[in-house]
Amino acid sequence: MTTASRARARARLDRLWARGCAFLGTRTAVMGGAMSWVSERHLVSAISNAGGFGVLACGSMAPDQLAAEIAGTKALTAEPFGVNLINMHPELDRLLDVCREQAVGHVVIAGGFPSGATLRRIKDGGAKAMAFAPTLVSGRRMVKQGADALVIEGTEAGGHIGPVSTTVLAQEILPDLREVPVFVAGGIGRGEAIVAALELGAAGVQIGTRFVCATESIAHPAFKQTFIRASARDAQASVQIDPRFPVIPVRALANAGSKAFMDLQRAVIAKVDAGALTRDEGLLEIEHFWAGALRRAVIDGDVEMGSLMAGQSVGLVTREQPVADILAELIAQAETALARRGGDGASLGVAAETPPALGVL
Ligand SMILES: Cc1cc2nc3c(=O)[nH]c(=O)nc-3n(C[C@H](O)[C@H](O)[C@H](O)COP(=O)(O)O)c2cc1C
Repeated sequence: MTTASRARARARLDRLWARGCAFLGTRTAVMGGAMSWVSERHLVSAISNAGGFGVLACGSMAPDQLAAEIAGTKALTAEPFGVNLINMHPELDRLLDVCREQAVGHVVIAGGFPSGATLRRIKDGGAKAMAFAPTLVSGRRMVKQGADALVIEGTEAGGHIGPVSTTVLAQEILPDLREVPVFVAGGIGRGEAIVAALELGAAGVQIGTRFVCATESIAHPAFKQTFIRASARDAQASVQIDPRFPVIPVRALANAGSKAFMDLQRAVIAKVDAGALTRDEGLLEIEHFWAGALRRAVIDGDVEMGSLMAGQSVGLVTREQPVADILAELIAQAETALARRGGDGASLGVAAETPPALGVL
């Protein structure tokens, strides 16, 4: 590609994600999806310093731990970053206070729909409020209740997942929900997929799995190695054996732990059917199986029995790379895709004016 055509492609990319960049205050509309234990100060600041938007994962942190992590991140970057809070955290209001005290610019609420009161509290604290939307109807409701932007996440993603693919969610939601910027997540591992999401009307994208093996990520070397070795089909959704014992779907690399989880479910069901265990006791046993398992894998490197949360794009993770190189690679792929589309892109306005086009998503 000539320098001139690359510059034209970049200008086109900048028009496509202008709304997302303006919302995030960044040079690229690539959010580094919050990943519990992985998205701490080092990875988050590296993503923001490289022109993306890092998001701290609060997970189960206590308010004072979150405060320290935000301060630690600020010490490493002057660029904007966000904080991801889990809706059912027992100290959610205190965590929101911490975000206000630390002047966090963007708060993302995950793990369920935030109430109107939670969204108001975020905005009253001076931050922009983001929520997840698994359907068009729930997205509209979130916007009505005050969400400033939405994330839609397909089933290809790592971690807790819904049942619908990124491609279908994007087609269902993006053309009709124009009121606020919408970021697309799940299975995005190359720049061509970013372009496709933007051309469908996304303001930007959110990527998790692709950043796990960043040089700046503190994930244990054994955790990173399993990612590098894995292919897309190894990232499997957890299976529920019996509807009486619900299992929240989580996508992770299959290992001895995921096999043991199936065995445990079978054993618990047999015990309950035989009257040796009550249903509630059985539910608790199943629920407790994965407690602390992500930490054990990410931090301690227990890749056998720990939880190896990963999206299907894990197949595109082939080596450890600095965040800046990952982002540069994604942008170069996006530019090449746009240059291949031909024309000078003058007819393409910001995504808001772009008619939905089915790309390579
Ligand atoms: C190891 C891991 C941990 C995650 N933890 C969280 C979390 O704490 N909160 C959250 O909202 N999303 C979490 N996610 C989802 C990511 O933020 C992101 O939306 C997702 O990884 C995007 O899809 P991708 O994995 O295909 O890139 C996690 C994902 C992974 C792989």
